Amino acid sequence: MCGIFGIVYSEEKNNLGECLMKAARRLVYRGYDSAGFVGISEEGKIDLRKDAGKLDKIAKKLKFQEIKGKRGIIQLRWATFGIPKKENAQPHVDCKKRLVSAHNGNVVNTGELIRELTFKGHSFMGDNDGEVVCHTVEDFFNVDHNLGKSIMKAYRILRGDYSYIIADSKEKGMFAVKKGSSLFLGIGKDFTCASSDLPSILPFTKRYIPLYDGEFAEFHSSSYKIMSLETGERIEREELIYKGDISQAEKGGFPHFMIKEIKEQPRTVNGIISYLNDSGEALEYGKQIRKSRKAFLIGSGSSYHASLMGSYFLNRIGRKFSIPVVSGEFKELFGNTLNKRDSFILVSQSGETKDTINVLNYLQERGFENLYSFVNIPGSTLYLRTKKRFPVMSELEISVAATKTFLNQAVGFVGLSALIGGRNDILKEISLLPGLLEETIGKSEVFCENLAEELKSSLSIYILGYGPNHPAALEGALKIKEVSYIHGEAYYSTEFKHGPLALIEEGNPVIFLSSREDSEKIISAINEVRVRKGKIISISPENSSIRLNSDVFIPLPYENYTMTPLLSVAVLQLLAYYLSVKRDIDPDTPRNLSKTITVD
Ligand code: M6R
Repeated sequence: MCGIFGIVYSEEKNNLGECLMKAARRLVYRGYDSAGFVGISEEGKIDLRKDAGKLDKIAKKLKFQEIKGKRGIIQLRWATFGIPKKENAQPHVDCKKRLVSAHNGNVVNTGELIRELTFKGHSFMGDNDGEVVCHTVEDFFNVDHNLGKSIMKAYRILRGDYSYIIADSKEKGMFAVKKGSSLFLGIGKDFTCASSDLPSILPFTKRYIPLYDGEFAEFHSSSYKIMSLETGERIEREELIYKGDISQAEKGGFPHFMIKEIKEQPRTVNGIISYLNDSGEALEYGKQIRKSRKAFLIGSGSSYHASLMGSYFLNRIGRKFSIPVVSGEFKELFGNTLNKRDSFILVSQSGETKDTINVLNYLQERGFENLYSFVNIPGSTLYLRTKKRFPVMSELEISVAATKTFLNQAVGFVGLSALIGGRNDILKEISLLPGLLEETIGKSEVFCENLAEELKSSLSIYILGYGPNHPAALEGALKIKEVSYIHGEAYYSTEFKHGPLALIEEGNPVIFLSSREDSEKIISAINEVRVRKGKIISISPENSSIRLNSDVFIPLPYENYTMTPLLSVAVLQLLAYYLSVKRDIDPDTPRNLSKTITVD
C-alpha cells in the first residue's frame, strides 16, 4: 500500500532530496506504482515533483535528489482510487497551492466529496482520494485559518481508514494524522519526522513513537505534541527506542531481499525459539488458551497458511480444538456462533492488514476478551490494540513475499501446541531447527536453481501435500504465484484424484511434499500422476520408493510431523525465488502487490 514520510529540519537543507530518497527507498517494499517528492523552503516555496512509474526512473527524470528545503514530504502510491498517472500521484496541493499533503489508506466517500467540493468551487486535478483529503482540510482552513482545527473538522467528514501528513507552506512545522493506517513519529537531534513505516524512520533515528487511531501530531524540528482528533486534548506518550538490527533493512551483498531473508531463517528462527523456551509468557498464554472452548487462528495470505498449519499441530500435539480462518471470511463463517470462552489469535506479519483488523474490531465491539496478537512489528495497529502479544521475532522483513515471518509464525504454533500439550520433547526438538534449516537451504539451493531453469516456462505448477504438508504446499504455491507469475496451485494430495487430475498432460510439473509417515499415501498420489505422464518432483526425507518414482527428488535432512513441512517450505521458497529471477522479475516488489494491505 502507499507509504508516506514527512520531515521537518531545523535548517534549510541543500541535500533534502537525498534525505527524502533515503526514506523513499525504505518505503519501496510496500509496493507502489507512482512516486512524488515535495520540498518546502524556509520562505514557504513549494517544489513538487511526481509521476507514475518506478522510483529510480522518476527520481532521475525529475531530479528528486536536487530538491532543497527545510521541510519535505514524500509518497509512494499503490493505486486504489484513480489509475496510476501523474495527476493521481501524491503529494497533492490545495487550490491555492498553500497546503501540501500525502496520504495512505482509503477514503471511502471520495466520490461524494469530490462532487460536494467541486460544487463549492474546488478544482481537482485527478480522482485520487489523497487529493480529496487535501481539499477537505482546505475547505475548513479557508474559514478557520488554523490547520489543527481544520484537521479535526475534516476527521468528521473523511470516512475510511487512512493516515496522512500535511503542511501549511506559509507556517512552520507539519501535522501527521492517524485513523486506521499505521503512523510513527521519529525524533532526531535537529529534526522530527513522521512515516507510515518504521523502517523508513530508522536510517534517521532509533527514537520513535507510534500514534494510535484517532490521534494527530503537530511536529516541528525540535518539538512535537500528540492530540486527540475528537477533542484536541493533549496526549502524553513515552518515546520508544528501536532495539533491532537496522542492517536488516539493507540487502547486505545479496541481490534481493527475498534470498537474503530466506537465508536468514536459520538465524532468525532463534528469536521465536528463545521466546517459547524462556519467556514464561508463552507458557502463560498456552495455559489460558488450553482453558478456552475453541481457539480461532485468524490471518490472511501466508499468515493464514501458518494458522492452518498451526491447527494441525494444535490437534496432534496440543490436543486442542482450533479453527483456522481467513480473516476476510471470519465474520460470515463464524460471526454468529462465537462464545465468550473462545480464544482468538490474530496472526499478521505487519500488524496492519485491514482484513485482520476488521476481525479485531468485530470482536472488540462485541466484548470478546481472549484476544491474542501474533505480529512481527511492535507498534503496529494490531500490536497496540491487543494486550496479549505473542511476538513473531523475525526482525524486519522487507521483501513483499513473506518467508522468515511465515516460518516463525509456524514455529510459534509448534511451540504453543507443545506448551498446551505438555510436550517438552517437542520443545526440545525445535532447537534442532536452525541447523536443519541451514542444511536444507544449503543443500537444496542448487537443486532449486536448476529446477527453476527447467520449470521457468511452465504455465502451471501443482503442489500436493497431506496433513501439515498441505499448508506447506499452499504457502509454496502462493510464493510461486507472487514472485514468478506462474500459476501455482496447492491441493490436498488425497483430493487431487477427485477432479484436478483431469488437467494433467505429459510433462506437467507436480510437486509432492512428504513426511515419512504419509509416504504410502504420497506414493499412491505420485503414481496417479505418473501414469498420466506428469513430471514428478518430490521433496521428502530420504525414501527409496519416492525417489524411484520421481523425476526430481529433493531430499530433506529430517523426518517428522512438525519439522518436515517447515523444511519443505524453505525449499519451495528457494524454488519460487529462482523462478522469479530466471523470468526476469524483481521478487522483492512483484507487480500489483504490496507488503502491507491496509484496504478492504
Ligand atoms: O502482514 P500480514 O501477515 O497480515 O499479511 C497478510 C498477507 O497479505 C501476506 O501474508 C501476503 O499474502 C504475503 N505477501 C505472502 O507472501
